[in-house]
Amino acid sequence: MDESPIKVLIIDADGASRNYLAAMLEKGGYSVLAAPSGREGLILAWQQVPQVIVVDPALPDVKADELVTRLRQDRRTAKVPCIALSGVSDAQEMNRLLSAGFNEYLFKSSQALAELQDVIPRLLMLESGAKKGGLLFVFLSAKGGIGTSSLCANIAMCVGKATSTMRVAVIDMVLPIGSIASIVGYGDRVNIVTVSAQNPDQTTPLYFKENLPRIPTWYFRLLAGSPDPDSANQLAAGRMAEIVAAIQESYDYVFVDLGRSLSRISLPIIQKADLLALILSTDAAAVSLTRTLWDYLKTQRVDSQRVYPILNRAIGLEGITKAEADDLLGLQIRATVPYMGGNFALANNRHEAVAAKFPGDTATIMLQQIASEMSSLGQRLRNQ
Ligand SMILES: Nc1ncnc2c1ncn2[C@@H]1O[C@H](COP(=O)(O)OP(=O)(O)OP(=O)(O)O)[C@@H](O)[C@H]1O
Ligand SMILES: [Mg+2]
Repeated sequence: MDESPIKVLIIDADGASRNYLAAMLEKGGYSVLAAPSGREGLILAWQQVPQVIVVDPALPDVKADELVTRLRQDRRTAKVPCIALSGVSDAQEMNRLLSAGFNEYLFKSSQALAELQDVIPRLLMLESGAKKGGLLFVFLSAKGGIGTSSLCANIAMCVGKATSTMRVAVIDMVLPIGSIASIVGYGDRVNIVTVSAQNPDQTTPLYFKENLPRIPTWYFRLLAGSPDPDSANQLAAGRMAEIVAAIQESYDYVFVDLGRSLSRISLPIIQKADLLALILSTDAAAVSLTRTLWDYLKTQRVDSQRVYPILNRAIGLEGITKAEADDLLGLQIRATVPYMGGNFALANNRHEAVAAKFPGDTATIMLQQIASEMSSLGQRLRNQ
């Protein structure tokens, strides 16, 4: 951790208010820069790059919304939290400034200083949370053949399709043979084994940003799994956590298919997950195995609010109900994917996403809903 004081820039045309605020923040342990006008504020912001900027919107030379727009447009200050500290309490001005790019709007009252001391660390926490890299969604099951890989690929596709700016990556870590490459129709040679054999200084976030193969109609990039057991034996498994972290740095969403492979190697990735999609089917044996898995994960400090159990009716309508599954598992099932008969396998065999092949199907609607819920829940947990 960097222990140097947090640098705050105050832009305030009123000398008395500026000096008072500077003195109080300095007393609170901050290092303070101050400017009496918008123009001087911008120059200081770009030269010194403070961690937080506090602006009284009543500036003689630049309008506050214009000021924040210019800060947001410049690479150096694009993400620096900006707080408006205004002498007028005006809902209209507040909305205008917040939508222009200010993170907070405070009114200069006797409580302003206390509010500021509260708001600054919170905004900085959000910032550092964002720096941890993209959201990590790990797919795990206690039993094979229940749709873990199909759901991982199809939910990732729905997340990718719903956005044009976010970058989505899928990593297949199922050993000894991965299956996502065959689901999406990828046949080239880049996979976890070839990548883990490279020199660690080569597998940087930039390397993954540029070199993970794009899977066109799936809206994500893929780090394919081991193609056969022989290759799996050559996997430098100890490097996987670091590879996942590097990919997280250059993607907004990282989906990992672990299948049933809970091990010493995958546990750190599970513990780092923003959400753990626990896939179960409707047979009592699968639910009971999942309960055993969950009981173990609890002892490994996996928090129940990060677990996202999905009941996949992969085997048809028979079997236990959602309520029974909730009970047996001791966790609330968050979503159910309906039985699709042969259609799911048909889409898989043609390397097409369910949402692309059967757009109006209930399963498609569920997959889209899960994608959007996992994204917002993951984000919400990050911001806590
Ligand atoms: N909701 C569903 N309705 C119908 N078929 C499904 C459903 N979900 C999955 N399937 C089918 O179940 C089969 C197994 O799926 P998948 O390979 O994704 O499971 P898995 O849990 O990853 O298996 P493995 O243990 O081999 O890794 C596939 O043929 C898939 O099409
Ligand atoms: Mg699988």
